[in-house]
Amino acid sequence: MTIRPLSAFDAAEMAEMEKKCFSLPWSLQSVKAELQNPIARYVGAFIGGTLAGYAGIQIVLDEGHITNIATAPEYRRQGIADTLMRELLAAATERGLAFVTLEVRESNVPAQTLYEKHGFAAVGRRKGYYDEPKEDALLMTREFV
Ligand SMILES: CC(C)(COP(=O)(O)OP(=O)(O)OC[C@H]1O[C@@H](n2cnc3c(N)ncnc32)[C@H](O)[C@@H]1OP(=O)(O)O)[C@@H](O)C(=O)NCCC(=O)NCCS
Repeated sequence: MTIRPLSAFDAAEMAEMEKKCFSLPWSLQSVKAELQNPIARYVGAFIGGTLAGYAGIQIVLDEGHITNIATAPEYRRQGIADTLMRELLAAATERGLAFVTLEVRESNVPAQTLYEKHGFAAVGRRKGYYDEPKEDALLMTREFV
């Protein structure tokens, strides 16, 4: 497995994976814009040259926000998301962030378990945050102090 930063050249492959992993995937245009967003950093995990997983963080001052993490269905439960989270959190430590937040669907136990494993704790709820299906988000935070 190779881990490297993603750029706009990876947009098409990332947008295809979005469709496989989310009920409301980001469009190709949104993916391209996000990969060129100066406050965002995306990393991809490649197996045999194919994008198998990716994760991203937006950083404003000393706050990080994990925007997305996904592993292609055929590559799940092999430690890819673990590796991507370690990459993002190492970058957060290097940048001296005070804390990192994220939202996750209330029903998404795999993702919540991943985040808890990496030191995140639920600190709040955003009512009706998600569509398709309509669902609350849990707000999770990891502090670095
Ligand atoms: C959540 C997701 C990214 C996990 O990716 P993955 O590469 O399969 O995860 P890993 O193999 O690296 O697992 C890391 C940890 O995540 C947790 N985890 C992953 N899948 C899990 C599952 N099905 N059930 C419970 N815990 C799970 C475990 O804590 C696991 O650690 P362990 O192997 O020591 O038990 C993947 O299931 C996915 O892409 N889901 C769809 C997209 C999504 O929901 N993203 C999150 C948006 S908030």
